Formats: sequence, C-alpha cells, structure tokens
Amino acid sequence: MMLRQILNEDLACASYLVADGGVAAVVDPQWDVREYLRIARFHRLRIAHVVETHVHADHLSGRARLAAATGAAVHLPAGSGAADPHAPLDEGDVIALGGLELRVLATPGHRPEHIALLAADRGRPFALLAGDSLQIGDAARPDLATDAVAGARALWASLRRLDELGDDVELWPGHVGGSLCGGSALSGRTVSTLGNERRRNRVLGLPDVESFVGALTERLPPRPPTASRLVRLNRNPPHGSGGTRPRLDARSVQRLLDDGAILVDGRPGEEFDRAHPPGAVSLDAGRPGAGTRAGRALDPELPLVVSAESDGAAERLALALEAVGFGGVLGVLEGGLPGWLAAGLPGAAIESISVDALAAELRRGEATLIDVREADEWARGHAEGSLSLPLSAMGMLPWLELEDGVRPVVACSTGLRSGLAASLLARAGRHDVRRVAAGGVPDLVAHGIALVAGDEPAAPRRHAAA
Ligand SMILES: [Fe+2]
Repeated sequence: MMLRQILNEDLACASYLVADGGVAAVVDPQWDVREYLRIARFHRLRIAHVVETHVHADHLSGRARLAAATGAAVHLPAGSGAADPHAPLDEGDVIALGGLELRVLATPGHRPEHIALLAADRGRPFALLAGDSLQIGDAARPDLATDAVAGARALWASLRRLDELGDDVELWPGHVGGSLCGGSALSGRTVSTLGNERRRNRVLGLPDVESFVGALTERLPPRPPTASRLVRLNRNPPHGSGGTRPRLDARSVQRLLDDGAILVDGRPGEEFDRAHPPGAVSLDAGRPGAGTRAGRALDPELPLVVSAESDGAAERLALALEAVGFGGVLGVLEGGLPGWLAAGLPGAAIESISVDALAAELRRGEATLIDVREADEWARGHAEGSLSLPLSAMGMLPWLELEDGVRPVVACSTGLRSGLAASLLARAGRHDVRRVAAGGVPDLVAHGIALVAGDEPAAPRRHAAA
C-alpha cells in the first residue's frame, strides 16, 4: 500500500497518489502532472483513477492531461457541473485499489459539491483525504463558492461528521499554510491525525455553529479575483500543450510586446530592479505565491512572454502561471535579459529605498506612499496619507493622479508584492516610481511613523475625464 503527498509549493496545494496491488488513484491533481507519472513509472503502478474532491477555485486542475496520459477514469462529486467525461461520486461510493478502498464522504462547505475520501486498508479506516474541509490547525475557507455564512454553516455540519472518526485516523489536507483556500491558523505541517486536531485545531472544538461561523468568517482575506474564472475552467479543464514553450529571440519578443503581449520576468526582485526590458512585469518566481500574486495583478486573458535567469526557471515560471489559469504563455525570451541587451535593446531600472529613508521623506512630505497590501491588511494599520492600491486594484492605474513634485514610493509588508506593483506603475508610465524592497509598511513604526487602523481605504483619485 502506498500513500504519497505531492505538494505544489508555490500555491501550497496538496495532491495525493494512493495505490495498492499495482493500481493507483491520483486525488486533486495539480496542473503539472509529471510527478505523478514519474512515481507511477518508478513503482510500476497503473494510474487507473483520477479523483477531484471539488471544483477548485485556486488552481487549474491537471485531471484532463493526466487522464489523457494514463487512460485513467475521471471521478468528480455529483453536482460539480463538470462538462468533461467523468463518473459522478455520491455519498458512500467506493473506489477500490487492490485491498484498499476510498470511501466518499459528502462534506459540503468550501464548495457545495465537496467530498472527502476515507481510505481503508483491508476494511480498517486509516486516512482521511480531507480535500478542503478539515485542515491542519483550521478549516477551509467557506466563501469561495457561496455566501460565507451559508458556506460556514454547511462546513460545520461536515466537520461534525469528520469528528466521529477515530483518534488514529490520519488527516491529509488539501492545503497547507500559505494557501489562499485555508483559514488564518492553517499549519505549515503536511499531515496530522484526527486526535491531534481534536486537541489543537482552532475551530474543531468550538461549542456551537454560531461561534464556528463567527470564527470562520470574521477575518476572511479578499476573495481572489481569479476564483470564478478558475471554477469555470475547472469544469472542463484544458489539456495544455504538454511540451516546453518555444524559445523566442529578443526581436520577436519586442514585436509581440508591441502587439500587446506582457513580458513577465521571474528573476529575484532586486535583480529585476537593477535592469529589465522596459515595460516588463516583475514576478519573483523563486518565492512562494507567485501564481497567486500574478492572478491578483494581471489579466489572465492577456498574451504573455516569460523570461528568467535560465531556461529551467523560465519553464517553471510558465507552469506557475498556467497553474492559476493564464492560458496565453506564447514562449520564453531566449537568453533572458542578457539576450535582450545583446540584441541592442534598451534596459530600464527601478530604484529602491530603505524603510528609514521612506520614513524621513514621509515626514518631510516629499513622497506619496502607495500601499499595495490587501484591504484587510490596510484596515489593521496603515500610514496616514498613504494611498491604498492592492494588487487586485492595479486596473485603476491609468487613473492614478499624484501631486506634482511628489514621487510615488510603493511598499507592501515584506518587499515581495512591492516589486510587482512598482513594475506595473513603471509600465503605466510612472518612471519615477521607487519601492521598498526590504521590509514594508509594518516596519515604518520602528522608524517613527505611526500606523492607524480603519476600514475605508482611500481609493486612488480619478481624473475628471475618466
Ligand atoms: Fe479549494
């Protein structure tokens, strides 16, 4: 018997390969299916089943390409609305793998159709593949498919069911800490047991449905703008090209950019700041959540070209973008930035500024701080007079109007999002933009700038003509 967890580190999504008697099932396959195929080849397994616990809203499913590569049968919960060929799963249904059984438990909440899978070895339940229901330390978000309160009420009933499982049953979650699908106390660990969760989980031991609904809905981060689109795509997921993307020389890339494509540069933010092709967008793909950041800031329908420090890194960046539904990766800039400069094309730079220097400029009224954290982070504490422009509101950029002589400085909390946001501002024509690359708004306090709380972010002002 075999149970493997395959994590997508960028999105903090967990998927599973379960096998017995040479027959395997893959549960919640991620977009990049190579690891499942590698494990199956290595252990001489036949992937006979691909199972989804729900229609995902945070990543593109790899089920169609995995089924095409293996001939596996696809299973989805009844009521999923999926349009690709599949067998619907209902409460109590069983998928058999040798002497192992995966039994379907209807567990609505995160999504109405959601199911969990209880794995039993020769009749003995030993592992819960929980999907997005019970997670380690917390529960899944209830607001991605439905009204948050209705979702939380349904999830409460589902968790009561799961709470009947024995102490020694392992909990294998659909997400780990860092995912946008989980609650605020989601653990960075990858496996637990029902007994551990009964002792430590933030929400499992709450006394009644009202306190559970309150705990789950009080501090929900903003709903990612890509969620509805991903649900729609995941009802009939694409197969993708399968191969690597074409290498494009700098002059061809320039022509694509002239026609409206966006160059996404996956190098570390500091390297991007030093030099990049003018108009390029900075998406540090060596740090977690690159796909999620891109999904918040960029239109997923736009054609893209990717560039990175190596061909391998560019390929990983392309996969990270496709994994959140960017369908239009046209190719890779051959040779990255050195290839671009060698073709005689110009470079651009973005200046960074320390938190200390920013604090001094704010005191002197010489800078406008553009705070690109999300609205909930702003509400907990922001610098007075700063402008709230979350990544998901970057579409407002054409209307951004600043006082003459005051230079914009972009900051977030750690310097990860500020790189992306500053590149978008420069792309929109604010070539005088600077950014805080190390640290961010919370660090201003140590440099004498008080943060104030408040729910109403100051929206960017619009030109009268807009
Ligand atoms: Fe989910």
